[in-house]
Amino acid sequence: MAGWLGNAYLWVKAFHIIFVIFWMAGLFLLPRYLVHHQEALGTPEATAWEKREALLRRMILSPSIGMVWLLGLALAANVGLFDGLPGLGWLHTKLLIVILLSGYQGWAVGYSKKLAKGQGKIASRRLRMIGELPALAVILIVILAVVKPF
Ligand code: HEM
Repeated sequence: MAGWLGNAYLWVKAFHIIFVIFWMAGLFLLPRYLVHHQEALGTPEATAWEKREALLRRMILSPSIGMVWLLGLALAANVGLFDGLPGLGWLHTKLLIVILLSGYQGWAVGYSKKLAKGQGKIASRRLRMIGELPALAVILIVILAVVKPF
């Protein structure tokens, strides 16, 4: 399947990056919402954060994670991942980090649902630090995708 995208390759890559930007915007926002939500527990503001989180999930996070995966896998087939071509160590590593990042979203959405039930046990300072993890992942993923060091 290597090269199967033909002339569409650059278009698929452009839209891959566009949806990556939307997804990252959502992943940077959600943990910050969680901090505000947790600090507002027990006040009427908590319901407003609950609604904001649900909207962010429905309008940004869910559609963009789906599109990033779809277009990313199309590109992966194009570079020969499923044909077992050599020299794709960068892509294997990138995939591992993206899987972890997708799991991170699952955790954050789960924590948002816990907060909606009035439960939240993570200290605010720790929650803020956890919120920086997507930035670290983006640095690694972009270096792997652009520099392809191995
Ligand atoms: C969801 C799973 C993903 C898969 C399977 C995937 C796979 C790919 C593949 C195969 C390419 C094409 C590389 C080439 O043709 O040279 C690519 C390009 C790219 N990807 Fe992903 N990707 C995924 C997610 C992400 C994420 C989460 C980010 C950023 C946070 C990202 C950032 C990029 C960038 C910046 C490029 C352009 C690299 C270049 O052409 O210089 N990708 N991706």
